[in-house]
Amino acid sequence: MSSDGFISIRNVGKSFGSFRAIESISMDIQQGEFFSLLGASGCGKTTLLRMLAGFETPSQGEIFIDGQPMSDVPPFERPVNMVFQNYAIFPHLNVRDNIAYGLRKQRLPKAKRNAMVDEMLDLVQLAGYGDRKADELSGGQRQRVALARALILKPKVLLLDEPLGALDKQLREQMQLELRRLQRSVGITFVFVTHDQEEALTLSDRIAVMQGGDVLQVDTPNALYEQPRTRDVASFIGTMNFLDGRVLSRVNGHTKLDIDAVGEIDIPTPHPAIVEGDRLSLAIRPEKIVLHRAAPDGPAMQGNLEMTSYLGERSHFHIRVPGCVEPMAVSAQNADLGEIRALEEGAPVWLSWHDDALIVLDGK
Ligand SMILES: Nc1ncnc2c1ncn2[C@@H]1O[C@H](COP(=O)(O)OP(=O)(O)OP(=O)(O)O)[C@@H](O)[C@H]1O
Ligand SMILES: [Mg+2]
Repeated sequence: MSSDGFISIRNVGKSFGSFRAIESISMDIQQGEFFSLLGASGCGKTTLLRMLAGFETPSQGEIFIDGQPMSDVPPFERPVNMVFQNYAIFPHLNVRDNIAYGLRKQRLPKAKRNAMVDEMLDLVQLAGYGDRKADELSGGQRQRVALARALILKPKVLLLDEPLGALDKQLREQMQLELRRLQRSVGITFVFVTHDQEEALTLSDRIAVMQGGDVLQVDTPNALYEQPRTRDVASFIGTMNFLDGRVLSRVNGHTKLDIDAVGEIDIPTPHPAIVEGDRLSLAIRPEKIVLHRAAPDGPAMQGNLEMTSYLGERSHFHIRVPGCVEPMAVSAQNADLGEIRALEEGAPVWLSWHDDALIVLDGK
């Protein structure tokens, strides 16, 4: 059996006793890709990563790396290296010896080994820190030592389990940029675990959104944001509004819907999920809604302004709309707001949107 991706995961599942931690997952990760596993605590991210590394054995299915089945390959013979969340570096060793640690079995000439360590120190921007003890470093510096220690072995795949989890926000953002730069410059495949959606969106070429041991959707950050397929994905990534309704008819590629809070509307795109007579759910992003003081032409919802948050460049609004369980979230550039800016809480307001702003979701 051959595989499609550089890493190919085929029907891989994992049970711990009677507990099913990973359902049957299939996906491919391409060479050189920055691929993230994103999901809430306990959804199975670490378990999947540990199966790639060989620290856990799948209960079913097969993992291929670079075309080779991994089932009989022990962790130390796999072309992968793993960076753990709590950057396990040796406090009693200096930075150079920490970075060179994995090379000790390779019996390299000293000059060669030193040159490799120097290269890594430059890469993670720690030149000049080689003789420091590891326990005299900041959190971010330790993290970079852990990365250098993994990278010096030139793995084909680097597995990173929430490597920035322990850092404060500012350092985290700085390290995100460094990670991305590092990944680009060394060109190896990264499989990166995070529960932070912004981090995943910023860093990744593609993201697998996980929930309850399953992968809900694998897509680029842009596609996950613009075209989430299900309600679960749509509500997990960013803020989303949902509208429920019923399909009236499909004619010439147009679909007539009866939306509970709006009435009848036409949407231009046919969608496989759309069946006449069925209930359906639509999603719409806060920034795709336009506010008006008076009823605009075309389809619109009427509601009352419940809350305004001023954020400098933008404002966020909550608008209570009869027929919607949750208030509608709207986000707008303050420069574009005009007369809306002066609205008081409780004031009537109309919401409209562009045709392509409505996302049809699978499932009701
Ligand atoms: N060795 C084990 N024995 C039994 N259950 C386990 C074992 N390892 C993990 N689990 C369970 O499998 C599920 C997935 O765990 P996992 O560590 O993969 O989650 P995670 O997505 O990495 O979560 P977090 O974001 O909190 O690190 C959890 O419910 C966990 O309790
Ligand atoms: Mg984990």
